[in-house]
Amino acid sequence: MLTTRFTEMFGVDHPIVQGGMMWVGRAELVAAVANSGALGFLTALTQPTPEALAKEIARTREMTDKPFGVNLTILPSISPPPYEEYRQAIIDSGISIVETAGSNPVDHLPHLKDAGIKVIHKCTSVRHAIKAQLVGVDAVSIDGFECAGHPGEDDVPGLVLIPAAARELEIPIIASGGIADARGLVAALALGAQGVNMGTRFMCTVESPVAQEVKEQIVANSERDTTLIFRTLRNTARVAKNAVSAEVVGIESRGCEFDDIAHLVAGARGRKVFEEGDLDAGIWTSGQSQGLVRDIPPVGELVTRMVHEAEAIITGRLASMVSATAAQAVGARA
Ligand SMILES: Cc1cc2nc3c(=O)[nH]c(=O)nc-3n(C[C@H](O)[C@H](O)[C@H](O)COP(=O)(O)O)c2cc1C
Repeated sequence: MLTTRFTEMFGVDHPIVQGGMMWVGRAELVAAVANSGALGFLTALTQPTPEALAKEIARTREMTDKPFGVNLTILPSISPPPYEEYRQAIIDSGISIVETAGSNPVDHLPHLKDAGIKVIHKCTSVRHAIKAQLVGVDAVSIDGFECAGHPGEDDVPGLVLIPAAARELEIPIIASGGIADARGLVAALALGAQGVNMGTRFMCTVESPVAQEVKEQIVANSERDTTLIFRTLRNTARVAKNAVSAEVVGIESRGCEFDDIAHLVAGARGRKVFEEGDLDAGIWTSGQSQGLVRDIPPVGELVTRMVHEAEAIITGRLASMVSATAAQAVGARA
């Protein structure tokens, strides 16, 4: 068992989180993550209405009695979804942990805190993490440049971002982006995090509700097979390389407005990739960590393997380095 401030605060066995994932964070995956002793998040906006979210929460509860949470991604939008109603569905369903992301959670925080909910805010920079701590979140999840989805515009990878954040923050930090195995988990703990968040790795498991073709493509892909879209719009997103993301980057390189690429990046097309396995139907989110993913295990097996291997690395390889150094020092003094 790896016990950290995060596992103690959130009442889970392992310092491993499955972050919100559009079209992926559904009951089957989240229940499997909860049953493994890690912390999974349903993705609120994957459900078409707040009522559907309440039903999905109930469906998850039928599959697990362990803690799980709901991700509420708040993005600026011309016609925003009814965020307050989704938030109320979360509160009314008795959820005790929420992952916020996308923008400052300050408007939602008092409502969530009044309901006794613990909030992990996911962000992409030290300054945003400090702001989140200031407004009262319980923990932050920090996405490095490697991550799937929105890495922000600073391009700072986790190796610098996590210790830089750890230097500034009091609340627990979850390292996110680029982590897919025990080595990443141990590295994140060494950098000052109290846990890790994984998206791509959990998307490629038996219980993940995406088409088998997507999982097999992740296994086949290397760390070089992602691309950054929306760079020119200052809303960067890391997605898998395919015909559509290449076309988007091509149009962007000639200068464009969002309207020029909207037909290519429509959410409905990305959903088709995940549901039908048509890999060039639209853009689909995946991180550089796909280069580390080489199998499609059940969630329970993945989490157990990560934790056991992490313990072995810490007590074996790393500990032996310390004792070898100590032995050398003794030898040098003799
Ligand atoms: C398919 C997919 C969809 C995602 N959708 C969301 C989302 O809706 N909201 C969110 O906060 N993060 C989203 N993410 C980001 C993940 O929660 C997580 O921060 C990220 O995947 C970490 O990087 P990794 O993939 O290298 O582990 C998504 C990731 C993936 C792979």
